[in-house]
Amino acid sequence: MTALVGFHDVAKTYPNGVVALRGVSFEVHEGTCHAICGENGAGKSTLMKTLFGMEAPSQGTVTINGVAAGPDHSPRAAAAAGIGMVHQHFSLVPSLTVAENVVLGREPTRGPLIDRAAARAEVRRLAERFRLAVEPDVRVATLSVAAQQKVEILKALARNVRLLILDEPTAVLTPQETEELFDRLRHLRAEGLTIIFISHKLREVRALAEHVTVLRDGRVTGDAPIAQLDDATIARLVMGRDVRAVRRQTRPAQGAEALRVAHLTLAATDPADRMQEVGLSLHGGEILGVAGVEGNGQRGLVSVLTGLARPDAGTVTMLGREALHLTTAARRRAGLAHLPADRYAEGGARTLSLTDNAVGIAHLSGALGRWPWLSRARAERRAAELIRAYDVRTQTPRQTLASLSGGNAQKLIAAREFSGDPKLLIADQPTRGIDIQAAAFIRARLITLAEQGCAVLLLSADLDELLSLADRVVVMYAGRIVARLENDAALTPEALGPYMLGLQTAA
Ligand SMILES: Nc1ncnc2c1ncn2[C@@H]1O[C@H](COP(=O)(O)OP(=O)(O)OP(=O)(O)O)[C@@H](O)[C@H]1O
Ligand SMILES: [Mg+2]
Repeated sequence: MTALVGFHDVAKTYPNGVVALRGVSFEVHEGTCHAICGENGAGKSTLMKTLFGMEAPSQGTVTINGVAAGPDHSPRAAAAAGIGMVHQHFSLVPSLTVAENVVLGREPTRGPLIDRAAARAEVRRLAERFRLAVEPDVRVATLSVAAQQKVEILKALARNVRLLILDEPTAVLTPQETEELFDRLRHLRAEGLTIIFISHKLREVRALAEHVTVLRDGRVTGDAPIAQLDDATIARLVMGRDVRAVRRQTRPAQGAEALRVAHLTLAATDPADRMQEVGLSLHGGEILGVAGVEGNGQRGLVSVLTGLARPDAGTVTMLGREALHLTTAARRRAGLAHLPADRYAEGGARTLSLTDNAVGIAHLSGALGRWPWLSRARAERRAAELIRAYDVRTQTPRQTLASLSGGNAQKLIAAREFSGDPKLLIADQPTRGIDIQAAAFIRARLITLAEQGCAVLLLSADLDELLSLADRVVVMYAGRIVARLENDAALTPEALGPYMLGLQTAA
């Protein structure tokens, strides 16, 4: 079998001195699905960037079809060699339509003008061929993350691709959407496409890949057919130690009602925002899980609670106050914290330093001196504490958020939101894209916060996570709460399925 891709002793040191890869060697064979696993910061994305021509290795070579990629290797050259990549963080332009995004940079023209009809037709053809349903004329900004993901994949496949690199493609997908994506990918592989797939979820790796390479701290710690490795072995190769599952054991005494939502209705064009008569109540010390296929009103609920959207009807009482007329900042001062699902778009400022991102709102409390007389030294000490406590892998608090690996950036935002002594926390997909070890840490923190009296509204597409943490679960479907359930031993992911699909109600 020919190796389609070969990494030969590849090392990478970033200009700021971070050593991301230390002598990586392995091969990817044509027509296979090859998984890459490793902790946050292990070097997975960096390695893929050397293959895709976005980062030059500091040492060693990458071969494509036996030919060494030269110093002029670039994304354009990689595309010409038949490589497509879907990045960990979306690279779509939100203000453009789906069709415009897919053809971006190689727009079909008609005379001096962009041929929109041709672009639209091409997208329809691709969508049909790869069976990824997308609407060419819709603006990307209005799409759910799952729909955006499809557009990203379509864009990567648009030019005769032989090798598709997917950097954590399922981090933003629900179990159902993941299953659908896997179906498509298996289909593509059957047609001869080679796939490199990065994921933290062993279940997914097993479902799709036949070979796995494990990276730890920039080195290969395992490289074998997946059938030869059991889960415990892979986990040990990933982390160098074992992790325990986190589960809520005792239910703390209930505090005062921290959140009451009644008859909340939001008319919106996007079903992810639309709500009908939503009502719920949440007390201090409680963790209320919100289950549902993404795009069933959860985003609207979070937007209204955080003050980003105004409902058309209904009331929100938050920490004893009527909240709808309060600004986001006022709600935060009252004790609301929010870990957004899209940490990059909403949670952090990529070009600012880790310190600025970590203290973010802390200055509102006056703990670091009053803005604009914020104490720089105190801010940096605070950031350093959070970085240590949350095990964020960094060089210095002065580096930018963008220079962190994806999962480490998320840990930093989580650290900021969890540490301000919140009274009400909205945790939206808190462990998405975070490695097994860090996810266990975040879950344990959520439990601790609840034990300290914080009310936690937990939205998670990971049903195992939801059921291991929540006291009660509500299920959203088509903008309504269709089930209210006690999280007892009888409640399983399978039992939630019929509610999530709108086949059954228990409200
Ligand atoms: N542009 C950059 N400048 C400096 N350091 C970087 C840059 N990008 C990544 N790094 C560092 O290189 C190391 C490897 O990062 P990489 O993004 O490859 O990790 P990863 O395995 O993809 O992690 P994750 O699972 O969190 O996405 C990390 O220590 C990270 O902080
Ligand atoms: Mg990465």
